[in-house]
Amino acid sequence: MTNNPSIDFYNNPELKFSGDIPTGRTGWRSPSNIALVKYWGKKPVQIPQNPSVSFTLSRSYTETLVEYSPAGHEGMEVTFYFDGKPNDEFGRKTKTFFENLKNIFPFLDQLKFTILSKNTFPHSAGIASSASGMSALALALCDMEQKYFNTLSREEDFFQKASYIARLGSGSASRSVYGGLTIWGQTEALPGTSDLYACPVTSGIHPDFLSYQDSILLVDTGQKKVSSRVGHGLMDKNPFAKQRFGQARENIKSLLNAMTSGDIETFINITESEALTLHAMMMTSNPYYLLLKPNTLNIIERIFDFRNFKNIPVSFTLDAGPNVHLLYPDGYKSRVMPFIENELAPFLSHNGYIDDEVGNGPEKLMKD
Ligand code: DP6
Repeated sequence: MTNNPSIDFYNNPELKFSGDIPTGRTGWRSPSNIALVKYWGKKPVQIPQNPSVSFTLSRSYTETLVEYSPAGHEGMEVTFYFDGKPNDEFGRKTKTFFENLKNIFPFLDQLKFTILSKNTFPHSAGIASSASGMSALALALCDMEQKYFNTLSREEDFFQKASYIARLGSGSASRSVYGGLTIWGQTEALPGTSDLYACPVTSGIHPDFLSYQDSILLVDTGQKKVSSRVGHGLMDKNPFAKQRFGQARENIKSLLNAMTSGDIETFINITESEALTLHAMMMTSNPYYLLLKPNTLNIIERIFDFRNFKNIPVSFTLDAGPNVHLLYPDGYKSRVMPFIENELAPFLSHNGYIDDEVGNGPEKLMKD
């Protein structure tokens, strides 16, 4: 892959139906992802202040079915069902997203949409539901482009464009388009990386990291008080922002080196520091805010103790929320599970935990 997109993302006036406008449907399952080096701070339009890298998950995913038919006189319409119930808020957000994509997909204006979506995990709890949701939608739109205009027949082009579109919906969604370890943002750590779309790290990673486990410990699944969008915005005036962006640029290089050589100690050091730095940025923004809960800290302390006393390489990372992602190599699973059940369970909400791991990326739900 090169830094210059091999396809022209804009200026596609031909992506418009000239004859009959079709009725049809497509559906994608797309996983969430957990960042190891965090994206926190951006420039217009959805350009990250620093590169980020994440594991795509396996069992935490969104399934989205997009049904379309010819639009009426009013132009494009979107009706959204989430978990089987009409959801006007998601409908409005998706309509705005589609409106903003009209230059890229002129055919959107010719259609009306019914979108049915569901997650396997609680949304708005800092488990990057926007990542899985937006990537599933982006894949569905690219699928329609390919089906009717045959312009994305090369697999690389299809996923690169899907990542580009997903990024416009939510930055972290750009990384969910691929399985395994994925980088979004230009970095010397991997040739071909770009601020415009994510790139999968397809070779060189030590086998220990290819089947890494992520038990997502659900401390609190209520709605976040401050959205990620607002959090990114507050970085514009954060007094530590410049140092933070520089630190992330270095961390991604060191982390990739550690993941190549199988250096789990450095992996733990960088990922935990990234998680705490992310929350430090929230605490040092103005207005300042705190998404960690007392039980987040209780769990982190237990993780430190368990690692030190048992000499088992468990570590944590955090998303923009109070839930803890417990990371460990799969070979330790039989020893980590009793630790979760016996020592960490008292700190969890009634939702418990999601036993997840690195996954292979999105899947199309139906054949054409
Ligand atoms: C803390 O991708 O949700 O999860 O681009 O505004 O939609 P928007 O933000 P979003 O931010 C995710 C931030 C993070 C870190 C990460 O995933 O890299």
